[in-house]
Amino acid sequence: MNMKIAFVGKGGSGKTTLSSLFVRHLTAAGAPVVAIDADINQHLGAALGLDEADAAALPALGERLPLIKDYLRGANPRIASAAEMIKTTPPGRGSRLLRVVEKNPVYDACARPVELDGGAVRLMVTGPFTDSDLGVACYHSKTGAVELFLNHLVDGPDEYVVVDMTAGSDSFASGMFTRFDITFLVAEPTRKGVSVYRQYAEYARDFGIALKVVGNKVQGQDDLDFLRAEIGDDLLETVAHSDWVRAMEKGRPPRFGLLEDVNRRALDRLRRAADQTYASRDWERYTRQMTHFHLKNAHSWGNERTGADLAAQIDPGFVLGEDHGVPSAAGSARTACGLAADSASMPTV
Ligand SMILES: Nc1ncnc2c1ncn2[C@@H]1O[C@H](COP(=O)(O)OP(=O)(O)OP(=O)(O)O)[C@@H](O)[C@H]1O
Ligand SMILES: [Mg+2]
Repeated sequence: MNMKIAFVGKGGSGKTTLSSLFVRHLTAAGAPVVAIDADINQHLGAALGLDEADAAALPALGERLPLIKDYLRGANPRIASAAEMIKTTPPGRGSRLLRVVEKNPVYDACARPVELDGGAVRLMVTGPFTDSDLGVACYHSKTGAVELFLNHLVDGPDEYVVVDMTAGSDSFASGMFTRFDITFLVAEPTRKGVSVYRQYAEYARDFGIALKVVGNKVQGQDDLDFLRAEIGDDLLETVAHSDWVRAMEKGRPPRFGLLEDVNRRALDRLRRAADQTYASRDWERYTRQMTHFHLKNAHSWGNERTGADLAAQIDPGFVLGEDHGVPSAAGSARTACGLAADSASMPTV
């Protein structure tokens, strides 16, 4: 199953830790994974075992937006130039779509393989945030490249994209929070942890977001009772303090096979919850929400910034879906919905 999964939550709650454990869990099971660090504090590389020098050398998505836009725009006649493409510009006929497993110029420029026990994961990072990145609907938003990536992605069977991100206003204004099959909100058993959940749930409700809470650093019955009482049915799983994580933090990562059983079971529950959302995936709604947020951003700042009428970028006859960009068994490209053959012929590796 193809799944887009976000980890959100309050600063320090354990988003990066749980994202990295989940990525390791999927990779160990043989699933192809793209991991994306879109968090304010860029720590996913380190949590996946990169040393400081390797983590610092990762290419920043935020600095490669022109390349990403030019590639995705492809031959889409509605998008006149990369400069007129904003983070919410949706794909249409002629756009190039992306797959989790393939070779393409975006991965070449922006992704790096990270070897884990049992396989390698593709890691992409937004790059460090600055103060101006934290405003609403900012033109220079660091997460813009991630949104474009997600909006052009047709993910295939048993593939996963895992995004470590903040629960910030930026992702609400742009619609990024609607791009996932499931969102795991990491909450410590504290009032603050729970209040971030309540805020998120309010946004989520209007957009049909599948939101589940993963309690973290849960010690004993009192913590569990607190989370159950405050969160109710949205509480999916709880994770206790992990000595495995602590050893990794000390720079001595044990084999992933040595992760505590109870935490492995928790990760498995997360995977099953993610996989279960597949049945309710709705590409039409997904495309509609892209359009909704694109229009919102176009009106509030995009038109003025680019000097173009960005509403005209919407291709009314286009619905993103798994029929697009999927090379057939014979290797020839499908051209469903009039997609240019060129955009559908990316080789899979
Ligand atoms: N279950 C756990 N067991 C042991 N240590 C944990 C656990 N969860 C998180 N930690 C530790 O808590 C600290 C914060 O976790 P982490 O960096 O994952 O949080 P975050 O939400 O990504 O924070 P930030 O907002 O700073 O990005 C880290 O030192 C991490 O190792
Ligand atoms: Mg983090």
